[in-house]
Amino acid sequence: MDESRPVRVLFVCLGNICRSPLAEGVFRKLVKERRLDSAIEVSSVGTGNWHVGEPPDRRMYAVAQSHGVSLDGKVARQLRESDLENYTHIFAMDKANLHDTLYLDTRDRFGHKVRLFREMDPEPDDYQVPDPYYGGPNGFEEVYEIVDRTCSSILNRLTQDLNLAAPK
Ligand code: 4NP
Repeated sequence: MDESRPVRVLFVCLGNICRSPLAEGVFRKLVKERRLDSAIEVSSVGTGNWHVGEPPDRRMYAVAQSHGVSLDGKVARQLRESDLENYTHIFAMDKANLHDTLYLDTRDRFGHKVRLFREMDPEPDDYQVPDPYYGGPNGFEEVYEIVDRTCSSILNRLTQDLNLAAPK
């Protein structure tokens, strides 16, 4: 975590091997393309601990790669209370992730930073990113489409609201 960056975005799912690592990879790529790396930090975590230390699910990795998004180097880690303090914008992939994230906010200090990822989706459907883990290959492609457009929407909103500009 790099405190020198004023905007620190954290994506949260259950296992940190499918949905949130994809969001991290897509968002990081967009941030780089817009030359906002010195202003925006990005990471992802899972609420559960089953996959801690593992790389992303290979099905998610393959779909990301087919769209030019690298998930190389990502290792799953579990959400902890200090993340709520350290990150400035926290996006939960589904309602269970949102609940479990807020549950760690034992002194009710950080709720204002936490919201559902798909609140920022122009086509939010039920406001949740479906969990692709136990489904077929189409689920991973569907997750990609949702994550891709929602990450663009989040970055547009952040750059507008915070008046972020690429360095000259
Ligand atoms: P994710 O997907 O939360 O998008 O990383 C899952 C990964 C693993 C499990 C469930 C969902 N699991 O039950 O192990």
